[in-house]
Amino acid sequence: MMNDHFSLQGKVALITGAGNGIGAACARCFAQSGAAVMASDINGERVEALARELVGEGFEVKAIQHDVAKEDDWARVVDALADWHDGWDILVNNAGIYIGGKLEENSLSQLHRINGINIDSIFLGTQFAASAMQPDGRFGRGGSIINLSSIAGLIGVPGHSIYGATKGAVRSLTKHSAVEFAAFGYGIRVNSLHPGLIATEMGYLVFKDFVEVGLASSESEAQKMLENQMIPMGRLGDVQDIALAAQFLASDASSYMTGSELTVDGGFTAT
Ligand SMILES: NC(=O)c1ccc[n+]([C@@H]2O[C@H](COP(=O)([O-])OP(=O)(O)OC[C@H]3O[C@@H](n4cnc5c(N)ncnc54)[C@H](O)[C@@H]3O)[C@@H](O)[C@H]2O)c1
Repeated sequence: MMNDHFSLQGKVALITGAGNGIGAACARCFAQSGAAVMASDINGERVEALARELVGEGFEVKAIQHDVAKEDDWARVVDALADWHDGWDILVNNAGIYIGGKLEENSLSQLHRINGINIDSIFLGTQFAASAMQPDGRFGRGGSIINLSSIAGLIGVPGHSIYGATKGAVRSLTKHSAVEFAAFGYGIRVNSLHPGLIATEMGYLVFKDFVEVGLASSESEAQKMLENQMIPMGRLGDVQDIALAAQFLASDASSYMTGSELTVDGGFTAT
């Protein structure tokens, strides 16, 4: 008999920030694994294009414009899930932004901006998912929440102070909500995913930032430095490396995992 523990067949997933990078890879990977995927992004055009492509390949995907920092948008997206499939089993809280720079040069408004997206989104998404997925909720069949943190939420990286602070908060919010939901018997698991440096638009911003803070003289030197000195496996991660880890956390294969942190970083944090 085939082992289908990793299958997402019959599950409804919402993936935020799915217009690009890791979120887009998760949308593709989850759809290929059998899930009905609602792909949301603040950039409506980009996520519409992705959904068109995946629907054209025969997958069940719907796009929706969604600013994860806005409470009203979350309410609208949950209504859309009810209209579309009358269910919700998986939330990938992926949307986020990066602001780098030296700590003494970061402004308070930058801190407020990054908190307002990277932390508010996880708080709101978890709150809406908890209300809807718990046994007495609108959908009531439990679920799995995957929060995108980062290795910068685990260790220090030059130029990453305010970004890393938000990702540390994501890690902590994950553990508190996981334990609370287990204590109240919600049947909702919550885990954080900690990518290393991944080849996306955001990933490449890190090289630019290394140059701006004076750690490298060019973006290519920054890339070489990171690959040769900081990443034992000697390469950036691919979006698929993260999407497959997210699929594991979304699937029944991880059914005894909650409040965990899964690191996918080519060994970055193991040294
Ligand atoms: N790329 C990396 O190296 C890396 C490493 C660790 C963690 N991460 C985390 O993974 C997640 C995805 O990163 P990525 O590299 O794919 O980034 P990306 O910049 O390539 O894509 C992010 C997506 O989020 C969307 N977005 C931004 N603000 C939004 C908002 N307010 N509401 C809805 N959507 C919004 C963007 O439009 C974009 O489509 C982020 O949370 C990021 O912090 C990335």
